[in-house]
Amino acid sequence: MQIIRARDYKDMSRRAAGILAAQIILKPDCVLGLATGSTPIGIYEQLIQWHKDGDLSFSKVRTVNLDEYKGLAPDHEQSYRYFMDEHLFSHVDIDKKGTHTPDGLAEDEAAECARYDGVIRQMNGVDMQLLGLGHNGHIGFNEPAEAFQKGTHCVALTESTIQANSRLFERIEDVPHHAYTMGIGTIMKAKKILLAVSGRDKAKILQEACLGPITPRVPASILQLHPDVTVVGDAEALSSLG
Ligand code: F6R
Repeated sequence: MQIIRARDYKDMSRRAAGILAAQIILKPDCVLGLATGSTPIGIYEQLIQWHKDGDLSFSKVRTVNLDEYKGLAPDHEQSYRYFMDEHLFSHVDIDKKGTHTPDGLAEDEAAECARYDGVIRQMNGVDMQLLGLGHNGHIGFNEPAEAFQKGTHCVALTESTIQANSRLFERIEDVPHHAYTMGIGTIMKAKKILLAVSGRDKAKILQEACLGPITPRVPASILQLHPDVTVVGDAEALSSLG
């Protein structure tokens, strides 16, 4: 696990964006695994800036997102599909047909999970997976559990995740209670993993994930077993790592 120490959110965003940009430059037709949430917003802003400056093209890049709320349509403002359009896809030269998220409106849960795993398989897997870190150690929406889940599945979100995500909804009652997420097995199969973390509130869980026991109670702890993980954290997030 390589740890890159950034000063603050802006610096973290620039450094993480640099790693993603290098991946795109070295392999223009790469498959990126992408995340939503507060952490990657600055990373996406930086990538958009480099695209506008003429230094980065997404024309051959394909993407798979980690997760999607169950029950939200792609044009729902809180859906992760909408988030990705707003924060990245609509501002760069990516072919949206090559960008994938689970279908929050799918009627058959099991069929949707199988379909999404098939999409990732057809792309020959993920070259670089960007991850954020939940306060309870979740990655994607793989919440603390008794066992690691391999493939795409539909999860009941924990109370703490619903609370954390309610900041983006008008009322907490509006936060969906279920979501589709890529499984830990799929995340671990990505050739490279980039974990972006910012803020003091993530310091303790980041330390547990990087140095604590490997356990499905802290899903991100499994990253210790991946051969190519880069953690980009700001000073606050890394403050417990010594
Ligand atoms: C989002 C995702 C989640 C977030 C995590 C951290 O696609 O998969 O695991 O990365 O909840 O969220 P933020 O960045 O909002 O603190």
